[in-house]
Amino acid sequence: MKLSLAVLPGDGIGPEVIEQTTAVLEAIGSKYGHEFVFSEFLAGGAAIDATGAPLPQKTIDGCQASDSVLLGAVGGWQWDHLPGSERPERALLGLRGELELYANLRPAVLHEALSQACPLRADIAAGGIDVMVVRELTGGMYFGDRGRRQGKYGEEAYDTEAYGVGEVERIARTAFDIARKRKSHVTNVDKANVLESSRLWREVVLDVAKEYPDVELAHMYVDNAAMQLVRDPQQFDVMVTTNMFGDILSDEASMITGSIGMLPSASLGKSRLGMYEPIHGSAPDIAGQDKANPIATILSAAMMLRHSFDLETEAVAIEQAVTTVLNQGYRTGDIMSAGMDLVGTKQMGALIREALG
Ligand code: IPM
Ligand code: MG
Repeated sequence: MKLSLAVLPGDGIGPEVIEQTTAVLEAIGSKYGHEFVFSEFLAGGAAIDATGAPLPQKTIDGCQASDSVLLGAVGGWQWDHLPGSERPERALLGLRGELELYANLRPAVLHEALSQACPLRADIAAGGIDVMVVRELTGGMYFGDRGRRQGKYGEEAYDTEAYGVGEVERIARTAFDIARKRKSHVTNVDKANVLESSRLWREVVLDVAKEYPDVELAHMYVDNAAMQLVRDPQQFDVMVTTNMFGDILSDEASMITGSIGMLPSASLGKSRLGMYEPIHGSAPDIAGQDKANPIATILSAAMMLRHSFDLETEAVAIEQAVTTVLNQGYRTGDIMSAGMDLVGTKQMGALIREALG
């Protein structure tokens, strides 16, 4: 295969973790006979500094013309004073919207080698953790009507949560399809005891479930789901939820694996063009110091090979190489524990390439 990838290194540790990831993709390419053509584009704070805007049209066009998008991270204190519509985060939201990437997959997996990093009690973590959060990504409060107005208590601000049937149908199908390849269990997370948008959401999920009689479906209110994730994470296989609830629950799910520096994500739409990025942020405090953990971004590349290009063997090869290096005892600072070998970003990348053979 010859694949053209738009690469958006972004800010902070973004460029460093991206550098290791494109190198891993090149290693995969030479091993399995694929050619990756990388084109870099500006996004986030880097784009603000260079062009005045977080998401230049050139970047959108470049992403649209590519087979898939690989993103590092955006954001940093330099741009924190900017108003909402000009902040680096707009790049992410803009790309999700422009590319119609409505399904966000966030797998939270506790690697056996990292079990000491799990903040949950040992008896709770004992069965391992493997949860796939499927978050709706282009609707709900993130994209709803918002504004300011005069209210009873003075100036008032509002954001609107609205979901249409078609929007819920497609994200529900994504969740059921993924569950079929896993343990065939979906937990729908909503707040149907209070919110009308959640009541419609649940009705639609129930309708779509009729097409998947082989998949078990449970419903949970979001407050309970937040609690159950730390009480008994093994009950979950696939969780499907709204943009806002998914934002919150995916951070929680990632932390129970002990390592936000380890978790990848995929944002998918109707075509094979997806956007792949680590769940972590730009970590400006350690940027440029060769301290960042590149594994989340490298695993995001594995998700790209799997979900956009159907290259399962190649995806598994990357995932196994990561496991091998962890089993050998190598750790970046964020996942370091006593008796392990501390390595930097570059060495971690090199070790993973070595393990690929
Ligand atoms: C995420 C992030 C983003 C979100 C921010 C940076 C806009 O938290 O990808 O989860 O809220 O979606
Ligand atoms: Mg978030």
